[in-house]
Amino acid sequence: MSQITTVSTVPIAGQKPGTSGLRKKTPVFMGRHYLENFVQAIFDVVGARNEDGGGKTFVLGGDGRYFNDRAAQVILRMAAANGAARVIVGQGAILSTPAASHLIRLNRTDGGIIMSASHNPGGPNEDFGVKFNMPNGGPAPEGVTEAMYQRTTEITEYKVMEAQDVDLGRVGRHQLGAMVVDVVDPVSDYAALMESLFDFAAIRAMFAAGFRMRMDAMCAVTGPYAVEILEHRLGAPRGTCVNATPLPDFGGLHPDPNPTWARALMDEMFSDAAPDFGAASDGDGDRNMVVGRGIYVSPSDSLAVLAANAHLAPGYAAGLKGVARSMPTSAAADRVADALGIAKYETPTGWKFFGNLLDAGRATICGEESFGTGSDHVREKDGLWAVLLWLNILAVRKQSVAEILREHWVRFGRNYYSRHDFEAIDTARAEAMFAALRAGLAGLPGQVVEGMTISAADDFAYTDPVDGSVSLKQGVRVLFGDGSRIVYRLSGTGTEGATLRVYLERYAPGPEGLDLDAQQALAPVIRAAHALAGIAAHTGRTAPDVVT
Ligand code: G1P
Ligand code: ZN
Repeated sequence: MSQITTVSTVPIAGQKPGTSGLRKKTPVFMGRHYLENFVQAIFDVVGARNEDGGGKTFVLGGDGRYFNDRAAQVILRMAAANGAARVIVGQGAILSTPAASHLIRLNRTDGGIIMSASHNPGGPNEDFGVKFNMPNGGPAPEGVTEAMYQRTTEITEYKVMEAQDVDLGRVGRHQLGAMVVDVVDPVSDYAALMESLFDFAAIRAMFAAGFRMRMDAMCAVTGPYAVEILEHRLGAPRGTCVNATPLPDFGGLHPDPNPTWARALMDEMFSDAAPDFGAASDGDGDRNMVVGRGIYVSPSDSLAVLAANAHLAPGYAAGLKGVARSMPTSAAADRVADALGIAKYETPTGWKFFGNLLDAGRATICGEESFGTGSDHVREKDGLWAVLLWLNILAVRKQSVAEILREHWVRFGRNYYSRHDFEAIDTARAEAMFAALRAGLAGLPGQVVEGMTISAADDFAYTDPVDGSVSLKQGVRVLFGDGSRIVYRLSGTGTEGATLRVYLERYAPGPEGLDLDAQQALAPVIRAAHALAGIAAHTGRTAPDVVT
């Protein structure tokens, strides 16, 4: 007989979900009652039972990082104690974030819990995270995460079942008290979804004809998905996927697919031995970086190219309803939307803001400058999806990545783009910088910096066109008369001090000047960004830690 125990607890400060769930250092999450308090807050807010008293069904999985396995057992015991009827778990407690989103939708469940700190490093002294996704498969909206946070500030007890661990290594049906635990293969349903969207025969033929790619899974969750889909189903040569075994510490890698952290891939793609196409994905598989032979594709450009060519894939042959991008993402996708005569949306940073647009059928493809692209097939960004859509486009157009990108710029103009990150800044100093920046906003229009005239400056506010909810203070924008733009934001996902993100953009209509180095093309905008915010004076930093 399994017994349900009610454990007394006290609130723990700081359990406030950020841009994407609650993320903390692993030792913090492993601290007494820390995970339990937050999971109880989730169940208190969303309920483990239906109104008729019957138990709900949830999905559970994570990116395999350190503590993933043990946290899964705790969450299962708490789900059972709180009255859930059934939990669908990826084998080994593994699910990529997009695969979890798909399982939530496919099985018409009541939502899911994803254990991940995304692209943050994992390990005993690195990061861990937990987030709740809604029945639509998407991250809980701010109202819900705020309610969870409120709940953590007043919590007095949590419920847990006393029982042995569930054997999550064995696919099939298990029992935890009255609750059913269905352990499923993490890959198969997701792979089937991909096969329904893309022309696998065309991609297979391209590989058979000698096309070569490198997929760097960065020792994170995408490995098994990429091997199954690219190597087994599409016939890419064995070894196409590297770092394909998920490890609890990601092999010491920083599983963030950008030119800095995916250095090995960049080096290979710019070498004489470069294959035709390269890609990398992050800790939980929702991010992607795409590289051609000798050419890097910025995420903002990738979104624009995918939007312009999506109709070449069977899943999008009917065309797109609209394209949505986060505010700091470049306007390249807007130009495509205008040319296609479809709707375009500009949302705050964070995938959760795309959910309503996707649910309402207003947008089909969404993207962020932070290496996130996705569509209405799930309610998360999806790294492998972006890789497959690129492959489908390459297979149909029979051109190189460089040719496709250059043709795109000639047609639409080029939005030179870069993001400069200043990490682990003293929080008080970062906040002082923003206070000064906000206080000076009204005086900026009309000023000339680096020869560019400021046309507008504001703190981005967003009114959701579907539910009318308003999100304020989503980033300081400085817009210039020539179409250049600077955006300043503080990261909502970091776990150490503050991270300042400076987003830089400049538009070149072409046909000349489309082949510059992005940092060179942006040099005046970069100088203006430092001058306007007084970055060095406020933070003591003169150069960014990461440039993407
Ligand atoms: C970062 C990215 C953002 C993304 C989020 C989750 O958030 O900037 O676009 O949605 O990670 O992957 P930030 O740290 O900037 O708050
Ligand atoms: Zn991620």
